[in-house]
Amino acid sequence: MLLSFRISLRNLKFFEVEIVFVIKIICKNHLEKFISLQSQKYLMSILKKRGVGRFRHLISIDELTKEDIVYILRLAEKFEPIARGEKASKALEGMILANLFFEPSTRTRMSFEAAMKRLGGDVINMTAQEASSVAKGETLADTIRVVGNYADVIVLRHPLIGAAKFAAENSIVPVVNAGDGAGQHPTQTLLDLYTMEKEAKLEGSKVALMGDLKYSRTVHSLIKALALFNTKIFLISPAMLRLPEEFIEEVDADISEVELEDVIDEIDVLYVTRIQKERFPDEEEYRRVAGSYVLTPELLKNAKEGMIIMHPLPRVNEIATDVDGTRHARYFEQAFYGVPIRMAILSELLGG
Ligand code: NCD
Repeated sequence: MLLSFRISLRNLKFFEVEIVFVIKIICKNHLEKFISLQSQKYLMSILKKRGVGRFRHLISIDELTKEDIVYILRLAEKFEPIARGEKASKALEGMILANLFFEPSTRTRMSFEAAMKRLGGDVINMTAQEASSVAKGETLADTIRVVGNYADVIVLRHPLIGAAKFAAENSIVPVVNAGDGAGQHPTQTLLDLYTMEKEAKLEGSKVALMGDLKYSRTVHSLIKALALFNTKIFLISPAMLRLPEEFIEEVDADISEVELEDVIDEIDVLYVTRIQKERFPDEEEYRRVAGSYVLTPELLKNAKEGMIIMHPLPRVNEIATDVDGTRHARYFEQAFYGVPIRMAILSELLGG
């Protein structure tokens, strides 16, 4: 019986590995009851190449149910002492994360790196595109295939919408979307939800999204998740940067377009984004809206005591620096929460 199980395990290598995913769901946490330690290790080594938690890749927030999201938030909470360096962990020892960033990043790349290292894992980074084989014309599919042989998980940021989905289709290891053009940024959404929960409230809250709602991928992801938590959503933006109609139609939530002064006294969260200069088709269009909104302490006069201001950062000039000292500012705490959230995501994908 054991022998035949080992043989079939060996054969798994040659099957389309979907089977592995099914076995994963059936066997997770029960492996030791059925098979020897050696077979467990072999099976886990294959599973780890495919993602072992609730999901195989993390490409879009749409893939997650409310239950999945709450599960990740609870997991992040458990990881917080490790994220703060108060406790040590070796949960992902021996695992490697590859950061593939085809667009600039500070927080996302570094917090993934911190998360992986805090869990005892290691990180490899693709150097600037000009110094990698991308400059020689290597396709994304080839880069992904190659990097999958060096790492257990790939974190990808790319300027094209759909790039992460495409990468996942070509990858033998889990792929995490760290931003695909103006598309999605699901890990940012998870940390945004976590921040709301910790610093204000999430379920049933009133949230104003302010700024460049047309091109901000953080908003495009967040608005879909907010709908799952019965929030009331207010949109505040210059006319040229309104949220595309398709989102308003698609998202099943109470959404209205307003001015900040109309809602400042009732909202729980004010989520501000920068104008996404790099997404504008031409410079002239950008110049027409540049500097068109700036949040100052003056504008917060009527805010509720517990109202929080969030921003995925980087900020350019849309939040005046004298807002930082008000009781409302939470954007730097928000940046920290990226670490426990990404620890939760990695541990879920890699089975730590
Ligand atoms: C955001 C992004 O890259 O979409 N940054 C981030 O990941 N924290 C927001 C932005 O660049 O404006």
